[in-house]
Amino acid sequence: MIPENIAELVTFVPNKTELIHNWFYYKEGFAKKFVEWCIKEFELEEPILDPFCGVGTTLLTAKQLGLESIGFDVSPLAAFVSEAKTRKYNTAELEKQLEEFAKLLPKQIGKFPNKHIRRLFREKNLDDIYFYYKKIQEITDSRTRKLFLLALIDTTSRVANVVKIGGSLRKQKKQEMNVKKLLLGKIRRMIEDLKKTQLPEIEPEIFEADARITKLKENSIGAIITSPPYLNKIEYTSVYKMELGLFFGEQETKLRAHIADAPSGKDFETKLPLIARAYFEDMEKAMRNWFHALKAGGKAIIVVGGGCFPYETIESDDELIKIGEKIGFKLLQKIVARKILCMRNRTIKVGTVRESLIVLEKPEQKDC
Ligand SMILES: C[S@@+](CC[C@H](N)C(=O)[O-])C[C@H]1O[C@@H](n2cnc3c(N)ncnc32)[C@H](O)[C@@H]1O
Repeated sequence: MIPENIAELVTFVPNKTELIHNWFYYKEGFAKKFVEWCIKEFELEEPILDPFCGVGTTLLTAKQLGLESIGFDVSPLAAFVSEAKTRKYNTAELEKQLEEFAKLLPKQIGKFPNKHIRRLFREKNLDDIYFYYKKIQEITDSRTRKLFLLALIDTTSRVANVVKIGGSLRKQKKQEMNVKKLLLGKIRRMIEDLKKTQLPEIEPEIFEADARITKLKENSIGAIITSPPYLNKIEYTSVYKMELGLFFGEQETKLRAHIADAPSGKDFETKLPLIARAYFEDMEKAMRNWFHALKAGGKAIIVVGGGCFPYETIESDDELIKIGEKIGFKLLQKIVARKILCMRNRTIKVGTVRESLIVLEKPEQKDC
């Protein structure tokens, strides 16, 4: 049965109140409850793959249910957050390190090299972030280092002079803030979350990788739950340029979307804009890899929204279904979760597009 609140479940909003899922807010994600529903409703088998894993909603939910999973994401930030949320932690070790951090007094010891990003902060706030960044790098236990770095990344976005609104960063001047208090508070809450949750020991395999070219072993995957970037949306990189620039060494000039970034546009209907043809070409490459990796009878659940352009809208669900069928998938179901409004210049309505979930199956092989 389709949940009444499916429109909400394809968003990240319900995760705000889910322990660990809420360690890092990712507007582009879907909900833990959505993944739970998919696994139950479609009787999905492990290992579960999410080839656009974002901040690991599929992977963490699978872990919570005691299921093996594999994920990759081309964004080093997303892959890192997924890892930090799904590792086995020793809370005593984390508490010991937290005590050490409580003794530290931040002082100016250097600066992040990326000048473009430095402009987005009050100097003192960023100097303190840099101090703790260096201290975190000195932590010898790699898991503790990951959890502390995730807390610092979250703290950084709180003290920046920008806020994330929709697909862009909007200026919002902040006061000088007590970075130490914010950071230690976040780490403390994360440790509390771990203590409250009895997590199975399973650790998902996570890679920083491109879904278009990453081929897993044939017939090795039980099911796929995923949501690719949506057509004509570039916010995955631009809205996280602060985190990517400071902690993952990405240059601002190199930030770009990773699906439809090099359009050749052959093979697809010429009436589609070039960017849309490139998008569907890239999605076909990724979907071919999924078909290869899935076991016979394995299902792929894809959440996808259409694309908004200044003078037109393009639905993606039916196009992905066509591609899937061309590859050999069988369509089991298409469920429209909600309609998304497309605006031009934030004021003129261009139309609406569907956000749907598509359920595909790799058919069992027929004996000749
Ligand atoms: C809709 S989000 C997925 C969010 C995820 N379901 C969650 O709950 O966190 C799509 C993700 O695809 C990633 N991505 C974009 N292009 C990619 C590519 N070529 N290969 C792998 N990941 C890619 C983006 O970085 C983004 O994290």
